[in-house]
Amino acid sequence: MAEVLIVEGGEAAGRLVSDHIVGLVQIRPDMVLGVATGSTPLPVYRELARRHSRGVDFSRAWAFALDEYVGLPEGHPQSYRAVIDREVTVPLGFDRSHVNVPDGGDGDIETTGERYEAALHAHGGVDLQLLGIGTTGHIGFNEPGSSFASLTRVKTLTEQTRADNARFFDSLEDVPIHCVTQGLGTILRARHLVLLAFGEAKATAVAAAVEGPVTASVPGSAIQLHPHVTVVVDGAAASRLEHADYYRWARDHKPAWQGL
Ligand code: F6R
Repeated sequence: MAEVLIVEGGEAAGRLVSDHIVGLVQIRPDMVLGVATGSTPLPVYRELARRHSRGVDFSRAWAFALDEYVGLPEGHPQSYRAVIDREVTVPLGFDRSHVNVPDGGDGDIETTGERYEAALHAHGGVDLQLLGIGTTGHIGFNEPGSSFASLTRVKTLTEQTRADNARFFDSLEDVPIHCVTQGLGTILRARHLVLLAFGEAKATAVAAAVEGPVTASVPGSAIQLHPHVTVVVDGAAASRLEHADYYRWARDHKPAWQGL
């Protein structure tokens, strides 16, 4: 089962997860960090940027993004390559040549998934994968119905996800319809999954992913198949968890030697 940590809010989550990532990069400077985009991981990136400004070095680490929109013009500010550059590469001091984002350009789109899988494989896979969750239950952009064995490939976004992400664009029409996303099978290969969620709007998806049946209808429920998962949520995102009291109890009695 996943370890569920109910924290006060984004800042507390950012500190908790950053402590762990800093510990990893200090032991293994060339670690591979799996990065998500969207609003959810921002408190983690902000805290990691603060640690970097105090001397934590990410220049030898590698980053792999979960997904990318298909067909946005190169350099589009909402392309995930641009978002990762702004939120992760520059503020954390990653070497740009160490940061990988799936190629969503129209050119070789049929083989983009295979190329990304090959790059992941060549770097020995992801040590720690940060995940958000969509209101549809997606992780990465694996919308309901995604195979648990799926690898990086082109997917069609649901209308719900496009509406959710329209806030980053001028209008709903500007949100791409297609994306390239790591598959659920790809995500499950990462050595440690850290799923973050904040706010009431995520409560149903979090409860279904953590406590519901393992089903392709809730792609986030794939995390139940992984041996090392940490779910970090605030009280609002945890509000539909049936066993929230137990998770709080377990946290209060967490053995001192046990990290994340
Ligand atoms: C982003 C990603 C998505 C988001 C999810 C939540 O790379 O893969 O699964 O994590 O859509 O988005 P936010 O955090 O904006 O609520």
